[in-house]
Amino acid sequence: MDWVEELGKICEVFPPSDAYRVDETPPLIAPEPAENFVVVKPENSVDVSEILKFANERGIPVFTRGGGTGLSGGAVPTANGILLSTEKMVEIEVDTENRVAVCGAGVTLKQLDRAAFKNGLSFPPHPGAETATVGGMIATNAGGVRALKYGTMRNYVLGLEFVLASGKILRVGGRTVKNSSGYSLLHLLIGSEGTLGVVTQATLRLFPAMKDITVLAAPFQRMEDAMSCVVEISSKMLPMALEFMERRAVEIGERVSGRRWVSREGEAHLLMIFERFDEAEEAAEIAENKGAIDVFVATGKREQDDLMAVRGLIYEGLRNEIIEILDACVPPAKIADYWRKSNELAEKYGIELVTYGHAGDGNVHQHPLIYDGWENTYFEFRKKLLELAVSYGGVISGEHGIGTVKIQELAEICPDQYRIMKEIKSLFDPRGILNPGKVVLPNHG
Ligand code: LAC
Ligand code: ZN
Repeated sequence: MDWVEELGKICEVFPPSDAYRVDETPPLIAPEPAENFVVVKPENSVDVSEILKFANERGIPVFTRGGGTGLSGGAVPTANGILLSTEKMVEIEVDTENRVAVCGAGVTLKQLDRAAFKNGLSFPPHPGAETATVGGMIATNAGGVRALKYGTMRNYVLGLEFVLASGKILRVGGRTVKNSSGYSLLHLLIGSEGTLGVVTQATLRLFPAMKDITVLAAPFQRMEDAMSCVVEISSKMLPMALEFMERRAVEIGERVSGRRWVSREGEAHLLMIFERFDEAEEAAEIAENKGAIDVFVATGKREQDDLMAVRGLIYEGLRNEIIEILDACVPPAKIADYWRKSNELAEKYGIELVTYGHAGDGNVHQHPLIYDGWENTYFEFRKKLLELAVSYGGVISGEHGIGTVKIQELAEICPDQYRIMKEIKSLFDPRGILNPGKVVLPNHG
């Protein structure tokens, strides 16, 4: 770290504080933060370019950090070096005529939502944490409950400004929805978790203002019936969200939120959000036909907020009791089967799973509860679980990314992809300074 003084000549350097050492990854699985790192807070791509040139010449690791709401250790500085915080890149320009927002990487989801709303528009994706930043959401290709109807971050990024490890500033895409101009560097950067370049600005697609919503809550005796209901509804309409929760997840959500869910009976509970009332009515009928214990229709904001708070706060309530939060995807029609087989497998290992997730798009959040000696058996179990998801036509991570926590599984379950990813990494970042230790490892796999 004899370079710190020199770095101070090109930008302001801040000492490390605890807030920069962690993200939202559950503590047991979170990577160990480095002892020594310094924090820099560039204001634009030119500042970032200077910092990266400096770091690249000296082989200093650079860890880019947005809101620190990630769940896979992606933003944790795991080696001595530079933590590059995007917190000062917060400019937003809304181009209402072309329905885009041009945002600095550090703009939060909340700020973006507000800016869109003030201009009579909306930004539909809603990954849970409103303090997540545009740069961070792009880094993981964040999803959330509305991905079923509105897609993930990838569907919203029209243009990107990013800086390569060498300091070169690139601008790709623009303000247009269509782009067939050769290999998509834009989509390569989305989901690259800070390992290929530092995103400094993004042009994001906005939509017309959201309409009033109707929320349905429906408990089912059996997971199979709940999922059969999801499949039937999905063949007739495209709701904004189709979420499921195990009974136990509902109880945790109730406890943390202090709000009441509609019932504690039944093994599977659905939370559905519609933008059209007639669709909500039709969905309620389908749910009844599929054997729902009850169907509760919420049209008032207060009751809707209560229901959504129960779902929204489950992770908060589980965070300290779990090894981690998994986010595999399976095709939606396979969820019930995957859920039962997962629980059988878990039982063999003496592991308890609490599960909920985005039923409509097949993204399943499974939470293994902490148990004695978990270090010895958990990873073997997890690999089998993720292989099971992939065998159904799924993927190992649907929205939280690889970070430090799933590198081994990526390398073992998807070896051909992993090899190409490593080659891409070395092309973009030959000295391996950008978020090292995340997504792919050199000399591995
Ligand atoms: C959720 C986050 C944890 O779906 O992905 O609640
Ligand atoms: Zn999720």
